[in-house]
Amino acid sequence: MFTENSAVKKVALVTGSSSGIGFETSLALARSGFYTYAAIRNMNDSDELTKIFKEERLPLETIQIDVTNDESIKKAINRIQVEKNRIDVLVNNAGYALAGPLEETSMEEIRTQFETNFFGAIKAMRLVIPIMRKQRSGKIVNITSMGGRIAVPLHSIYHGTKFALEGVSECIRYELGSFGIKIILVEPGAVGSNFWKNLKVASKSKDSQSPYRKIIDNVSEVFSKMTENVIHPSEVAKIIVNAVTIENPEFRCIVGNDAKMILDTKAKFSEKEIEGFMKDQFKLAY
Ligand SMILES: NC(=O)c1ccc[n+]([C@@H]2O[C@H](COP(=O)([O-])OP(=O)(O)OC[C@H]3O[C@@H](n4cnc5c(N)ncnc54)[C@H](OP(=O)(O)O)[C@@H]3O)[C@@H](O)[C@H]2O)c1
Repeated sequence: MFTENSAVKKVALVTGSSSGIGFETSLALARSGFYTYAAIRNMNDSDELTKIFKEERLPLETIQIDVTNDESIKKAINRIQVEKNRIDVLVNNAGYALAGPLEETSMEEIRTQFETNFFGAIKAMRLVIPIMRKQRSGKIVNITSMGGRIAVPLHSIYHGTKFALEGVSECIRYELGSFGIKIILVEPGAVGSNFWKNLKVASKSKDSQSPYRKIIDNVSEVFSKMTENVIHPSEVAKIIVNAVTIENPEFRCIVGNDAKMILDTKAKFSEKEIEGFMKDQFKLAY
């Protein structure tokens, strides 16, 4: 049995490593000495990562995972078990944002968002937890968002996935603590990654005749301002590496001044006051 203090090289798995936070986290973990499996949905997107880890001779290899595909998650985790016989860190990072009024978002769009951001993480955890439980050690990092604790208009399903993952994480930290497994939530504000480019808009809400057109335009304006002030994904990676390498990490790690300020405001003000801020911010006419 291995323990936290074992001299054996620790093994990490990071989903969604083709770009942004996952890309930087895989590199940062490998640079910190973890044998890192950087999971990528489409292996054709692994060139940039491969070039860096080869140049730097990092203990990193890429592995295919589409988090919406049960078999691909199982296959990857089985392979890691066969090759390394342990998993010390799982970073559930793969995700994207879906935007649009609830009424105009199809059930298929909603299901795919949940399959990716929520069920993808759940499936990976259900496979990794027994391994960590037998090791009696392990850390699971769930990348949620400041949007996992506060909601803005037109992102109901994205928030739903992130709030859900926060709730599950808050619960399982208690059931897994006695097995030496720690759960960590990482809640970034705006990060300069492909996230903004990959944002999916509910197809029905693209219609110029949408009754939500005014709100959609106001929200788009606020979001384009937000993207002018982003942090580099390596800032998030740094927080993740710190959380998985120290003995007693915080359960919630907020990353970015915007997220700190907004979550601080949420904690200090009443629901009515928060609604007032949102109405001002997004020019909501009610
Ligand atoms: N950027 C932000 O402002 C921000 C803020 C708060 C939270 N977050 C969260 O941070 C996480 C990482 O996002 P990011 O900012 O780094 O954005 P990103 O650059 O778009 O990276 C997202 C990663 O997730 C992967 N992915 C998406 N769907 C997948 C699937 N079905 N299976 C496997 N991988 C999949 C993408 O792979 P492909 O290249 O194949 O699409 C990509 O590698 C997300 O969970 C996001 O919600 C981001």
